[in-house]
Amino acid sequence: MTWPELRIGDLVARTPIVQGGMGVGISLSSLASAVANVGGIGVIAANGIGLLEKDYYKDGRAANLRAFRNEIRKARSMSDGIIGVNIMVAVNDFHQLLDVAIEEKVDIVFLGAGLPIKNIPVEALRKANVKLAPIVSSARAAQMIFRMWEKLYGDTPDAVVVEGPKAGGHLGFTAEQLDDPEYQLETIVPLVVEALKPFEESKGVAIPVIAGGGVYTGKDIYKVLSLGASAVQMATRFVATDECDADIRFKEAYVSCTKEQIGLIKSPVGMPGRAIRNQFILNSEAGNNPSFRCAWKCLATCKAEQAHYCISIALNNARRGLLNSGYVFAGSNAYRVKRIVPVATLVDELHRGYQLNVQVKLKELLDTVKVLLDAYGKKEALLLELTDRYEQAIEALPSQKAVVTALKKQYSKLVSQEEVLRLTVKEKLVLSSHLAH
Ligand SMILES: Cc1cc2nc3c(=O)[nH]c(=O)nc-3n(C[C@H](O)[C@H](O)[C@H](O)COP(=O)(O)O)c2cc1C
Repeated sequence: MTWPELRIGDLVARTPIVQGGMGVGISLSSLASAVANVGGIGVIAANGIGLLEKDYYKDGRAANLRAFRNEIRKARSMSDGIIGVNIMVAVNDFHQLLDVAIEEKVDIVFLGAGLPIKNIPVEALRKANVKLAPIVSSARAAQMIFRMWEKLYGDTPDAVVVEGPKAGGHLGFTAEQLDDPEYQLETIVPLVVEALKPFEESKGVAIPVIAGGGVYTGKDIYKVLSLGASAVQMATRFVATDECDADIRFKEAYVSCTKEQIGLIKSPVGMPGRAIRNQFILNSEAGNNPSFRCAWKCLATCKAEQAHYCISIALNNARRGLLNSGYVFAGSNAYRVKRIVPVATLVDELHRGYQLNVQVKLKELLDTVKVLLDAYGKKEALLLELTDRYEQAIEALPSQKAVVTALKKQYSKLVSQEEVLRLTVKEKLVLSSHLAH
């Protein structure tokens, strides 16, 4: 048994797993190519990627574009599989990063942290055969993007990623919504699948939904696919792999953290984020972090002054293993990570878990069929018995008819004998009355 494959137009992933993009520098060419090599979609995160370059503080924009291009090319040289990129819509160099992705002909771009609606170079994307998938947290957001795309471009995105509230990194939910059943992945996935149907009909193609946020085991993958998703997006589990691009200390923070340490932060980006809450976070919340220098205002709406730190720098420090000068983004299940393994081992484990659940489901179905067959067998026996009795009754009908005819004959004979008797009595009465006179 193999995985159900993920089809996005002519793009076919034999493993229905998208490795979620992880900035800053957590998912680069090493992780992305390893995931692509096992049949999934490997994703390079563009966010803050220029921090890999020496000249980031001199020209952050140029450093970002250069590092981004380098990592795409490196990943391509390490894999023939599917390579995607993840870009934040809200960053100031969004359009330039998107242009690089198109020039380098990546297979697919995933666009999050904002709605990719205005000024999307749809024609250039189509010409380069680069697929596009927005990342949303609700059916309403998906609907809005698709409606606007039809209106502005006469086209639609190729797939949608739905990210639920258990994800790591920045979250598209308010703190209150995070535990509300209405906003959980199992509620929103069917709604997004339903919302896309009219667009699938009008475009005449399938628009796959990729769902993530808290997907941890093969059983989880089975459940999410049962909700109507065509694939899962997973990030947390890919951090704890040999190929993940972060320093070993970043990965070990997952292995050693407790459930209670994973919590929310108010990110300078203006959204809540999920991270392992360490001393750096506590210090910044208390306003006690040392001063910092903003390299080039990469995000128009950034509230770094209020947060007392630059998030790109903090995340980049964590990537380098300097956990006292930054922090680790993590999904709500990161505390379950027990060891760091190769990507292929992880994906094998997920596959086995998935298969086991398919087998359990098949067994359940077989058991139900057996019960139905048994009930059918009993009903069939009863039906045969009734048919027998019916046929016997039909066969018995002619003889009963004969009895009735005989009785009728007997009856009419009796009736005529009674008539004769009555007449004789009457005659005798008349005669006796004459004799009496
Ligand atoms: C360390 C880390 C960094 C992340 N960075 C980004 C990012 O730069 N852009 C983005 O769209 N999502 C980011 N995410 C979210 C993931 O791509 C993914 O959708 C989510 O974490 C899935 O949930 P999971 O971690 O429970 O599997 C990040 C997640 C983690 C754990």
